[in-house]
Amino acid sequence: MSPIGNLASERYGESMVFSQRLENAAELVDGRLGRLFESLATEGTPPRLIEAMRHAALGGGKRLRPFLVLESAGLFGVPSGAALTAAAAIECVHCYSLVHDDLPAMDNDDVRRGKPTVHKAFDEWTAILAGDALLTVAFGLLADPDADHDPAIRAKLVCGLAAASGAAGMVGGQCLDLEADKLKRPPTPDLDHVRRLQAMKTGALIKFACEAGALLGRAAPADRTALAGYGEKLGLAFQIADDLLDAEGDAASLGKATRKDAGKATFVAVAGLTSAKQRLRALADEIAATLEALGPKAEGLRQAARFVVSRKS
Ligand code: IPE
Ligand code: IPE
Ligand code: MG
Ligand code: MG
Ligand code: MG
Repeated sequence: MSPIGNLASERYGESMVFSQRLENAAELVDGRLGRLFESLATEGTPPRLIEAMRHAALGGGKRLRPFLVLESAGLFGVPSGAALTAAAAIECVHCYSLVHDDLPAMDNDDVRRGKPTVHKAFDEWTAILAGDALLTVAFGLLADPDADHDPAIRAKLVCGLAAASGAAGMVGGQCLDLEADKLKRPPTPDLDHVRRLQAMKTGALIKFACEAGALLGRAAPADRTALAGYGEKLGLAFQIADDLLDAEGDAASLGKATRKDAGKATFVAVAGLTSAKQRLRALADEIAATLEALGPKAEGLRQAARFVVSRKS
């Protein structure tokens, strides 16, 4: 069932439109990533590494982050094709984060996106290297003129991705997550700690996907701020939904194991299921408010927010 009950069915008509838009973004990013792997193959990348990278990055995933880049850039008239390289770069970082998150030393998961995790399909060293390669290739993509014709914009994209994915972003959040899980530090995490951990491990990259769209679109400062606020709240909602789905969702629909978060510092563990659902509903309203200034053209982003709070996969 959906994380907060019957919202999914109430929104069915709108989510149909959204699902087509998301599918379109997924097809575009799959194509861009396919071209990337073909070019890596001609540059002497070992075939085993390419295969593991393809396993991690192709054939699955909601592609929400690339969708957010394309939709945010589209608000300012940037065609999808022009925002696609940046969108693919962010997806590469996300895929790498999943490969490493699933390793035995971290969450120890066997299934991801309905397939064996990379270390199961290959082995641990290959999974570590495939993750490393996806991370580094992401920065190559952003520095490439294909990402944007203006070197100053490309530099901002590179700095932004580094901040969102690195020690004070996703990697730092993963550290807090695993410290709480494996070392029980802090012994009893409170909600502030969970919020910080989740904003870093998941929120930072989702927020940056929206900011990247604004950068590509040369958005005015007020619009950039609105999109950053939207992305920040969407990221928090996304992880609370993920935690609820771990507790109540269905592994087959999710394409990954459930009931794995015992011992983790999650919103559900600290505040309970009811309170987590309430927080998700409240966030849905707060997210909608962040988009008011952007008007009707932000409908795709509004639908994305409804999807995030009602998703089952
Ligand atoms: C899973 O992200 C990891 C989290 C940040 C919770 P997604 O749910 O976006 O995973 P895919 O890309 O659709 O597989
Ligand atoms: C992972 O969070 C967030 C990442 C940065 C990869 P989770 O560990 O909850 O993600 P899932 O549930 O394995 O997808
Ligand atoms: Mg994890
Ligand atoms: Mg995990
Ligand atoms: Mg999870």
